[in-house]
Amino acid sequence: MLVSPSLLSADFGNLSRDIDMINRSEAHYLHLDVMDGVFVPNISFGFPVIKHVQRLCAKPLDVHLMIVEPQKFVAQVRDSGARIMTVHQEACLHLNRVVQQIKDAGMMAGVSLNPATPVAMLRDIVADLDLVLLMSVNPGFGGQRFIRGTLRKVEELRALIAECGSHAIIEVDGGVNQDTGAQLAQAGADMLVAGSHVFGAPDPKAAIAALAAL
Ligand code: DX5
Ligand code: ZN
Repeated sequence: MLVSPSLLSADFGNLSRDIDMINRSEAHYLHLDVMDGVFVPNISFGFPVIKHVQRLCAKPLDVHLMIVEPQKFVAQVRDSGARIMTVHQEACLHLNRVVQQIKDAGMMAGVSLNPATPVAMLRDIVADLDLVLLMSVNPGFGGQRFIRGTLRKVEELRALIAECGSHAIIEVDGGVNQDTGAQLAQAGADMLVAGSHVFGAPDPKAAIAALAAL
């Protein structure tokens, strides 16, 4: 299982210490949640922070934009060092164009769906995607409870990806722990985001290793 720990639950007073832990861990990516207070009812951090994180982090950056009009920021996300740029389907009137812009900028293109958005919304774009991020909580905050209907959505998305000949990987974000992670692995997820489960663990490195072993 690919693992992308979410920096949102790290200690922002000790970011270099927490990123050093990520560097020494089995994490495959570092997940960065950008929030604008409009698309979601919270504000997190922006590009100046991501640039500094990128200098410290040995893992590729997985940037999840929970913002309106993400197409305005493709160049800034690329310049901040992201490997993956994920935008929300609900935030993009011209999703096909945004996806092409992300790929033209040399990044992997990801599209995220809120819990209430059906997988079928991606039918006409999934063949162009590198990644689909299914939200298993309503985005905006760490530490929320996993929405169980996500398991069925992972299965539906796995079928849609096969049907459309897509190479997209399935990432799931929100309320992931060892138990929900195991169920997501069973359902067909490729990559798990985990914030509070990792950074709240007595041994965060061991928590990452256990998820990676799923
Ligand atoms: C939520 C963010 C998540 C968040 C997950 O809106 O997109 O990435 O950090 O946190 P946990 O793992 O604590 O649910
Ligand atoms: Zn996220």
